[in-house]
Amino acid sequence: MSRSDLARLIAEARRVVVFTGAGISTESGIPDFRSPGGVWSKMKPIYFQDFVSDPAKRREAWERAFSGRAGWTGRQPNAGHHAVARLVAQGKATAVITQNVDNLHQDSGVPPERIVELHGNASYAKCLECGERHELAELKDSFLKAGEIPYCRACGGLVKTATVSFGQPMPEAEMRRAEAETLSCDLFLVLGSSLVVYPAAGFPALAKRNGARLAIVNREPTDLDGLADLVLHDEIGPAMSGVVPAN
Ligand code: APR
Repeated sequence: MSRSDLARLIAEARRVVVFTGAGISTESGIPDFRSPGGVWSKMKPIYFQDFVSDPAKRREAWERAFSGRAGWTGRQPNAGHHAVARLVAQGKATAVITQNVDNLHQDSGVPPERIVELHGNASYAKCLECGERHELAELKDSFLKAGEIPYCRACGGLVKTATVSFGQPMPEAEMRRAEAETLSCDLFLVLGSSLVVYPAAGFPALAKRNGARLAIVNREPTDLDGLADLVLHDEIGPAMSGVVPAN
């Protein structure tokens, strides 16, 4: 299968949903999770219940967030993100469902209302009790200087980056939106995911069961390649720049 096959599928589609994973951000310098040298080969995930119950784990989580060790923040969108933003701007893609927490789809110009973040966002924090938003910049100094673990300015509850950790319930509104968008598209385009983490990885199969075509662009084979109408083992940036050229 070739990039021109993918271009044809997109041209023939009435309504595309783009589904992205960490693979679309590696060309921005953000490591993915399961490739050799990926995030989980360097550090173990901190489970939600451990963050809540264990102050040492909470400190480790904040140390990762403020040191940028996971590499999620402070990077720029790459050609792959910009090609996706063009698909949305052209009205061809109605939604970008992303597992990523790096805010790069927003930074590439996709309107926030077109983005469904299944695993939250690492660029800000939220109170686990009342939901109050906290900017990382306001929390960083007191943590780095005095080692103060952030608590909510409004209710005193625990504050955590706005990501969805393992063991944390999935965001209900985002899951409902992702399902509605998945069921409304006739082409579901996966970019850069190993498709091993559920429930997120359930959406490509749902689209296919609902009669949509499924296309997967990923460097490595994925668990769902056998289900797809088109599989492209390719680099996302160059592939998508060719498939959705900047005019
Ligand atoms: N072009 C194409 N594919 C790429 C590129 C690239 N430039 N870079 C990496 N990939 C592919 C890798 O081969 C890999 O199969 O992207 C895939 C990324 O897979 P994962 O690292 O498993 O990331 P992802 O699928 O997004 O993980 C899902 O797991 O740990 C959780 O919450 C985390 O959202 C994440 C979820």
